[in-house]
Amino acid sequence: MTEQSPSEAVPGSRPQRLFFALWPDDGQRVAITRSTRNFVKASGGKPVPQGNFHITLVFLGTVAPEILPAIRQVASDIDACGFDLTLLGIGFWPRPRVLWLAPDSVPGLLTELVGKLWTGLTGCGFERDNQAYRPHMTLARKVRSPGRVGPATPVGWPIREFVLVESVTTPHHATYRVIESWPLA
Ligand code: 2AM
Repeated sequence: MTEQSPSEAVPGSRPQRLFFALWPDDGQRVAITRSTRNFVKASGGKPVPQGNFHITLVFLGTVAPEILPAIRQVASDIDACGFDLTLLGIGFWPRPRVLWLAPDSVPGLLTELVGKLWTGLTGCGFERDNQAYRPHMTLARKVRSPGRVGPATPVGWPIREFVLVESVTTPHHATYRVIESWPLA
């Protein structure tokens, strides 16, 4: 991955922590909260605010401002199709201590979209991480014991675009800002 220190950045600009994501609309956010709130309560974890719900496609890390145009170009060059997700399964990862919601299956078109992003990004100097891609929406953090896992009320989500997001984190919370979105055919 290409990283540069703030001193190397274009004057007046700053490094940003960026990721590509699938971003639900307001109605889907409400539906996701309704479907998952009992699981989140039972987990005793710190709930992710509804406005922060997303599925990460590619996490880029901290990026120098002069790299941003190339990242946007990668996204603009993507030729990929939309697909439908059904969010259903609640699960728990003990090491990051997160409770998550995942689609009932991983469409080939989702794997393809992530692969195309990585192909473009590796051309810009980013290194693909070796971990298998496991699409998920983090619902709660700092979970000690999940309480309940299993199927939630299904939430249908037609995916017709993907977005580039900036993450601003403080010790207490993260704020996400959508920088740009690109349509899927
Ligand atoms: P998470 O929700 O499972 O924690 C912004 O940080 C988004 O990028 C989050 O959705 C986070 O996943 C995801 N992400 C993926 N890899 C990451 C990493 N190495 N560090 C921080 N966040 C990462």
